[in-house]
Amino acid sequence: MTRLSVNINKVATLRNARGGNLPDVEQFAKDCEGFGAEGITVHPRPDERHITRADVYALKDIVTTEFNIEGNPEPAFMELVLEVQPTQVTLVPDAREQLTSNHGWDTQMHFAKLTAIIQRFKNVGIRVSVFVDPDPVMVEYAAKAGADRVELYTGPYAELYDENPAAAIEMYRAAAEKAHELGIGLNAGHDLNLRNLNAFVSAFPWLDEVSIGQALIADALYLGIKETIKQYKYALSNSN
Ligand code: PXP
Repeated sequence: MTRLSVNINKVATLRNARGGNLPDVEQFAKDCEGFGAEGITVHPRPDERHITRADVYALKDIVTTEFNIEGNPEPAFMELVLEVQPTQVTLVPDAREQLTSNHGWDTQMHFAKLTAIIQRFKNVGIRVSVFVDPDPVMVEYAAKAGADRVELYTGPYAELYDENPAAAIEMYRAAAEKAHELGIGLNAGHDLNLRNLNAFVSAFPWLDEVSIGQALIADALYLGIKETIKQYKYALSNSN
């Protein structure tokens, strides 16, 4: 079964807009787990525009499912993750000023750097996932660098899906199959939603985890977070 990790960045964005503690990010994480989320994802950025470093430390003691911290492995991020020791760290090559992550690593070009970073996290027992574009060569070099998993960047999948679902799936097939063949784990994330999620997991049933933020939080405005999580889990259950 593919696990649902709820990315709660946008809940922090809403809180930060006023400067108080409404909505309460930590309580929200707890409630997501209570409603069936199998993981909580955060992406603390250097400018703390949504999730702050203090949130990450607080969540460490709250999250009882899988805690996934994403980010660019700059020194301050590395130090935070090594201290908090989440279940998983997802390495993302996003620039500081970037609005959101929009590409994966060139794992071939950054092979030596990634190998060293991955080893540091694995030494303390943190599972490492590397964010990559759907290119089997990138998957192969991530595995060679020691990654436990890759996370496929699904932005282009979501963009093509509404127009041509079959072509959108085919664009990911070689990379998803390469991960399976190499025996590393497979995650996916970015722009996944209630329309496109089931087709992706049905095509690649060995998918370990999806992390979903933007669409899920937007759906919760209409459905409420409890019903939203239920519907995402139904889409993942592969039975429809
Ligand atoms: N995976 C990674 C690496 C991301 O950076 C993000 C966005 O923070 C997501 C998944 C979730 O994307 P979305 O918010 O579009 O669901």
